[in-house]
Amino acid sequence: MIGYGAMGRSLQASLARSGDRFKIAAALVPAESRSEPPAGGSVRIFHDVSELIAWRPSLVVECAGHAAVRDAVPHVLRAGIDVVIVSIGSLSDAKLLGDLEAAAIAGDSRLIVASGAVGGLDALRAAKRAGLTSVAYLGCKPPAAWQGSAAESLCDLSEITTRTVFFEGTAEEAARRFPKNANVAAAIALAGIGFDRTKVSLAADPAITCNSHNVTAQGAFGEFSITLHNNSLPDNPKTSLLAAMSMEESIVRHFTPLEL
Ligand SMILES: NC(=O)c1ccc[n+]([C@@H]2O[C@H](COP(=O)([O-])OP(=O)(O)OC[C@H]3O[C@@H](n4cnc5c(N)ncnc54)[C@H](O)[C@@H]3O)[C@@H](O)[C@H]2O)c1
Repeated sequence: MIGYGAMGRSLQASLARSGDRFKIAAALVPAESRSEPPAGGSVRIFHDVSELIAWRPSLVVECAGHAAVRDAVPHVLRAGIDVVIVSIGSLSDAKLLGDLEAAAIAGDSRLIVASGAVGGLDALRAAKRAGLTSVAYLGCKPPAAWQGSAAESLCDLSEITTRTVFFEGTAEEAARRFPKNANVAAAIALAGIGFDRTKVSLAADPAITCNSHNVTAQGAFGEFSITLHNNSLPDNPKTSLLAAMSMEESIVRHFTPLEL
């Protein structure tokens, strides 16, 4: 695993609850990180991606952030090791996307994008084949989940009393202005009609405790609307439990002969 924060701990715990077939055996974390597996445990710690590659993991999963996708993942792919990523917002950078594709081709490996905190991406990908006319995403979280983001300069998060939409724009703008909160918008843009055509609205609502995601799509297939109300991880209000579960699901599918 790259990173060992709230999602990493949740993933490790849920894999352990599911039996002993899969486990996180090693983690790549920054040397200065205080968020890492307990010393003396069964998780081997690396601070350098070349050491992780030399150890030859059977799969690498990224639960770290956009910088890790940029700095570590191309090396892992080029070394012939498949990678599942969850920091999907990083793929709004077209150059990085191209670099990752080149690295995967050179290494004969695969980059797999987890569904993360949202659902319906399979329907969106299928619907795209017949043509999509519009895709819109509304993300709504409690004010605390927007702290540390550009939302702080667009509304007073501590004062709002009702649901407040503080951003409307494209997925490209959302990725640029809310890099740490753009993972879901990016996943929808990649599965559907791209960063320039996907409409994004972001809102804070003091009356909710969940992170809500609504996706609507119209096209030749018809239309759909899907809404998720996600519980967050106890250690990180910005991260949904479902995002961690989607990593577990990606790991299990990767090693399973029948993709059911
Ligand atoms: N796709 C989605 O729907 C979705 C949802 C939630 C979170 N995410 C992504 O998941 C990531 C992890 O979430 P979290 O709650 O565990 O965050 P967290 O802040 O609790 O943990 C991040 C961990 O990554 C490590 N890290 C940071 N930069 C690194 C690097 N360059 N190389 C290696 N390790 C590095 C940190 O030391 C820490 O251990 C988030 O940064 C976000 O990008 C995606």
